[in-house]
Amino acid sequence: MDAVENDAVTRRDLSPRIGSEVILSKEALLSGVYAEQLREMLSQRGVLVVRGAFFDDAEQQAFTKTLGTPMAQTERDEVMKISMDTRVHASAEFQRGNVLWHIDMLSAETPNFASILSPRVLSDEGGETDFASTYAAWDDLPEDEKRAYEGLRVIHSLEASQLMVNPEPSLAKLQFWRDVSPPREHPLVWAHASGRKSLVLGASAYYVIGKSVEESRQILTRLREWTTQPQYSYRHEWQLGDLLIWDNTGTMHRVLPFPLESGRLMSRTAIEGEEPVA
Ligand SMILES: [Fe+2]
Repeated sequence: MDAVENDAVTRRDLSPRIGSEVILSKEALLSGVYAEQLREMLSQRGVLVVRGAFFDDAEQQAFTKTLGTPMAQTERDEVMKISMDTRVHASAEFQRGNVLWHIDMLSAETPNFASILSPRVLSDEGGETDFASTYAAWDDLPEDEKRAYEGLRVIHSLEASQLMVNPEPSLAKLQFWRDVSPPREHPLVWAHASGRKSLVLGASAYYVIGKSVEESRQILTRLREWTTQPQYSYRHEWQLGDLLIWDNTGTMHRVLPFPLESGRLMSRTAIEGEEPVA
């Protein structure tokens, strides 16, 4: 696809509706000079990729600060280690749900605006990350469906997504999920302050309020299938040195399965949410 000059930043679109590669050096990224342009591109393109950045954790944190307010992800750190190996990370068990399409932090009223990911160890097979634009998917929905879905509200919970990777939990485990992450109600259609709209979907979507179990499942399955069509999706094949930024408020994502013994390890930072789902 054609290279696009956006003032000083060169952008190369990776697919028509989602995903762009941005050509910037590590120094340019860290300078903060391009932060406003990057934020604008992020909102328009959903996913930005920089190849060859080779950020360490401290540099990734410094870059994150240029884009917004960094989010504390654990009690101690702004950098979260993403691994599915329980020996590496206490919450690795939860992270096994990352193979399901989801939006991060829907347990909160205001989910994080963006996430920033760079690999430390990659798996030889699998481990690609898929993204789907919930803005583009909404824009293209037939008008009669838009009318049917607007105004609907959905319960999201950790329980919903964990049940898909652990379908027969103990009662204690079920209670634990509920205690650590109580259910949260969100509109199915997010009317952003910008005037754009996006779908609020993913594995955390438990049921549509006021609909039967079957009808809920029908709506949520229909919309996941619609949103994850190739024309709204981008699959990222990781290389060491990559820096990837995604707009968590306008995309869903998932990781493709990979061997747990590969040691795949990513560093993640995030930018605090700037508007509640409404
Ligand atoms: Fe995630």
